[in-house]
Amino acid sequence: MLAWTRTHYCGELKRTEAGKTVCLNGWVNRYRNLGGVLFVDLRDRKGIVQVVFHPEHNPTLFQQAEAIRNEFVIMVKGRVEQRPKEMINPEMATGEVEVYAEELLILNPAKTPPIYVDERGSDVDETLRLRHRCLDLRRPEMQRNIALRHRITKLIRDFLDEKDFWEIETPMLTRSTPEGARDFLVPSRVNPGKFYALPQSPQIFKQLLMAAGMEKYFQIARCFRDEDLRADRQPEFTQIDLEMSFVEREAVLELMEEMMAFLFKEIKGIELPRPFPRLDYQEAMNRYGSDKPDTRFGLELVDISVLVAASEFAVFQKVLAAGGKVVALTAPGCGEYSRRELDELSKIAVKYGAKGLSYLALTEGRIKSPIAKFFAPEQLDGIISRMEAKEGDLIVLIADQDPKLALTALGALRLEFAQRLNLIPADQYNLLWVINFPLFEFDQEAQRLVAVHHPFTSPLPEDSALLDSDPLAVRANAYDLVLNGTELGGGSIRIHQRPLQEKLFRVLGLSPELVQEKFGFLLEAFEYGTPPHGGIALGLDRLVMLLSGANSLREVIAFPKTTGATCLLTMAPSTVEREQLEELQIVLGKKRQEEA
Ligand code: AMO
Ligand code: AMP
Repeated sequence: MLAWTRTHYCGELKRTEAGKTVCLNGWVNRYRNLGGVLFVDLRDRKGIVQVVFHPEHNPTLFQQAEAIRNEFVIMVKGRVEQRPKEMINPEMATGEVEVYAEELLILNPAKTPPIYVDERGSDVDETLRLRHRCLDLRRPEMQRNIALRHRITKLIRDFLDEKDFWEIETPMLTRSTPEGARDFLVPSRVNPGKFYALPQSPQIFKQLLMAAGMEKYFQIARCFRDEDLRADRQPEFTQIDLEMSFVEREAVLELMEEMMAFLFKEIKGIELPRPFPRLDYQEAMNRYGSDKPDTRFGLELVDISVLVAASEFAVFQKVLAAGGKVVALTAPGCGEYSRRELDELSKIAVKYGAKGLSYLALTEGRIKSPIAKFFAPEQLDGIISRMEAKEGDLIVLIADQDPKLALTALGALRLEFAQRLNLIPADQYNLLWVINFPLFEFDQEAQRLVAVHHPFTSPLPEDSALLDSDPLAVRANAYDLVLNGTELGGGSIRIHQRPLQEKLFRVLGLSPELVQEKFGFLLEAFEYGTPPHGGIALGLDRLVMLLSGANSLREVIAFPKTTGATCLLTMAPSTVEREQLEELQIVLGKKRQEEA
């Protein structure tokens, strides 16, 4: 039997190895038979090198090598040779050398792969890629993403260790935590009829760890949320979760800025300017129509309610009379937009809840607009001047009784224009904080107040007095970290005293009995000397996605779920044996029984 363990990685072979005999292990990336000489591109985790089989050097070996196909796993022993000048391949990291094969061992053959295992693989239908994930993950692009994820995680562990944090695991089988999504439930066999919930985050446990005197906790924590999925949401995802005792907001923000600066320096070689900008929630909404503004481009929104108040346009009059707002945005060079293009914009606005969209197009030296007739010329001049619009521009306007809705819909159009006008610079990283969120919002569906972050977030001390009289006006001591328009993380200074926590639950309409049942253990902990504390959680998947340049979380998670919450590789979720259900004392509905 040949000794077959590797001496070198394929991707590492340089001119300096010329003359050495090496033993390589890897996959056949490609093979070509050129004029009787067989060239095999051999691939491992570190790269690709060309291996040459020459019939004249060793006819038996050549014959054996002719059996090689793509994705065969092989061992090759051979001599590294410098390539003649004219044969150097500058496209390849190992392009200055090739390996002349002397021994070959096929460690395992492979059937013809159903997907490309190279750069062409990124164009393959994603369903197929996920179905054959092992092959897909062999692609250099995916290996880079997974390696980057490892590196980021490792850097974060080192950074936090250096800062005296302890990594502590918290339970997966636990009680429901109120992060606002649905829970994934796990039935308990030994406690029939009872369920664990998978954690939506370690929120309560990390606070209990502060009560437990751990002072500085972190965890690369898996979280589970049963919510509607999108490109930047997975049902199970990973947080860089941390909590600190004896801190106020500033300490948390500074630590995170230092951590992000360290990461960007290590990963991208970029010095991030610090401190990061801080935007009040209300300012972010007013200027960008979003609580996670992308500030890599302008196109800021303008409240023109005052300027349109005297117009005769009934829609605007009605909205303003009802306490609403009219907001506008200038899209440079879009004055020539066709009917169809304007309709598309309108559809986007409506998708985000707007009742309609109006526009003023400055084209051919005049104002083209179905609503211009409702305005006096000097009113139009006032709007155009305030909007800093010039010939060739398009002003879009959205009015709504609900100011937040008007801003959000126009904020969505802002992003749309930025894309269409190519205003988003590549390779720019704008990190910022959004602070002073409202503590509560009114949930139309539930017809009651809900916490914007979670119910353990403390109110700003100066707003606490309003908790009873005007809860919607109370601001939270909470902060979100935003990167290029994506919410990367969120956190807050927590409530650490029982009376305030009880009051918050009361405002949220939870009965004392329910509070006692669900959170009694936390309230009790508060009574035995819980220190003031605060923390944050960053989405690791999102961070890796943004740093890798990928456009979906699925590109940076080894085994992700589809938007239908399924795993196409293992086909989870699946039906289970009847005996398993019986043991758990679970009875399926009739329809499901028939399917099973
Ligand atoms: P929050 O719910 O804001 O805060 O979550 C923190 C961060 O986690 C990421 N994230 C997700 N990533 C992928 N898929 C998802 N479904 C998903 N949901 C959230 C986001 C988000 O900013 N316990 C609090 C943190 C705290 O208060 O300390 C919490 O979980 O990047
Ligand atoms: P309607 O009265 O719905 O036919 O709308 C008359 C004009 O007003 C159309 O050009 C609509 O696009 C526009 N419009 C309607 N509602 C709004 C709104 N909420 N904000 C801005 N423009 C609107």
